[in-house]
Amino acid sequence: MILEHLLEFIYLIASVTFMVGLKMLSKPDTARRGNLIAAVGMTLAIFGTIFLYKDADGNHLRNLIWIFSALIIGTGIGIYMAKSVQMTAMPQMVSFFNGMGGACAALISIIEFQHSQHTGISPDTQTLLIILAGLAIGTISFSGSIVAYGKLEGKIGDYNLPLQQVINLGLLAGILVLSGMMLFGAVDGNTWFYIILGLSVLYGLIFVFPIGGADMPVVISLLNSFTGVAAACGGFLYDNYVMLIGGILVGSAGTILTVTMCNAMNRSLLNVLVGNFGGGSSSNSSSNSSGGTTKEMGPSDAAILLKYAKKAVIVPGYGLAVAQAQHACHELENILEEGGVEVKYAIHPVAGRMPGHMNVLLAESNVSYNKLVEMEEINPEFSTTDVVLVVGANDVVNPAAKNDPSSPIYGMPILDVENAASIIIMKRSMKAGYAGIDNELFYNPKTYMLFGDAKDTLTKLVSEVKSL
Ligand code: TAP
Repeated sequence: MILEHLLEFIYLIASVTFMVGLKMLSKPDTARRGNLIAAVGMTLAIFGTIFLYKDADGNHLRNLIWIFSALIIGTGIGIYMAKSVQMTAMPQMVSFFNGMGGACAALISIIEFQHSQHTGISPDTQTLLIILAGLAIGTISFSGSIVAYGKLEGKIGDYNLPLQQVINLGLLAGILVLSGMMLFGAVDGNTWFYIILGLSVLYGLIFVFPIGGADMPVVISLLNSFTGVAAACGGFLYDNYVMLIGGILVGSAGTILTVTMCNAMNRSLLNVLVGNFGGGSSSNSSSNSSGGTTKEMGPSDAAILLKYAKKAVIVPGYGLAVAQAQHACHELENILEEGGVEVKYAIHPVAGRMPGHMNVLLAESNVSYNKLVEMEEINPEFSTTDVVLVVGANDVVNPAAKNDPSSPIYGMPILDVENAASIIIMKRSMKAGYAGIDNELFYNPKTYMLFGDAKDTLTKLVSEVKSL
């Protein structure tokens, strides 16, 4: 009895750690600790279940060798992947882990259904509903996440089937109708159950196949919320409220993140799912469609402009992550500050390719958190800024979002860098960014293009500033 209460108490503590951890994840300076706190809660819940749980007959869990073998192998793989992953490959790792979560939730449904088949005790309607929901949602999340992983790894392209939306709707209707028929007893048994499983695998694949690779962060976040719901189904099934709360938290956090990302891009979720926006490859025209001319600048001139500025703002973007230029960037910041220049970073909510991408990247090179200024706060400061240094960012500084109603990014809030006295844009070419569109900022009379790889160019800039 005491052990049972102890387990309930552990579940309560674990649930609280999930909520506290999640809250702390919303700020860069508390995110690591938040992650750790939630991980401690999860460890407590796992070990509490292994050692304290008793079934209806009062038996503890058996198969401890299997359980611990799986735990050790899974932990080893997780640690290896987390330590070796490149920052730019983080979205695919999240997608992969999310897919595994979906698969686990689906396996719970499969095992529970098989259990009922072997014992001959049919689950009641409510239990069967939860089993089928966990099966379909978990499986869709699994197969969709694996396609998302393949796309981000560059191993799977964007495939659009003829009548794509009709097929999608047909598959979804098939899953719902068959599940309904099973629930109302019109059909039963393994065959129908596995047909629903097969349709769910197909739906996950076909739903993600056509979505542009660069839209994957939004899709991954959506699939993440599916996994949360599927895990919550497991919580219902086992009457385990830590699993239920964990699942609901993942489900709701994933949904909020999906909506936040769509809002920050000023796009609807439907537009992301069926819009074929931009596409990862983007246009590579070096010509300029707006008919303007650009001014080029070398590292030595850029160094002079920066060195003699009072205030400089660095705008990091996806190119900074690609070039792994965060350390060089921090070095430039230090050397400018030593020379008396006030330096800040302007952080756009969707700069890079995943939420918080720039914060994580800059934190890696120990840039102080209070130097990272959010878009709403920094925008009024550009008019008093001498130099803006845009490092591998493009869409998040494109004034077309404000000026051109025909632009695909029209309405997306952007950093008002054009209000600064001078703008230096560091990138390798005139190629477009994620949205695949030309950037009129490049043709602004106050703008200088500083071509080259961000890491190489920043390294050159640092030595030029040192030599002044
Ligand atoms: P982008 O608009 O994608 O522009 C990045 C620029 O970096 C490119 O124009 C590229 O130009 C340059 N670049 C690439 N590699 C480089 C390197 N090694 N050195 C120097 N420059 C390099 O990036 P952004 O401004 O950060 O905007 C992010 C975009 O992603 C937005 O459109 C946003 O809506 C979208 N998005 C973001 C998220 C999240 S949550 N962050 C999710 C989904 C979509 P060159 O090729 O000429 O070098």
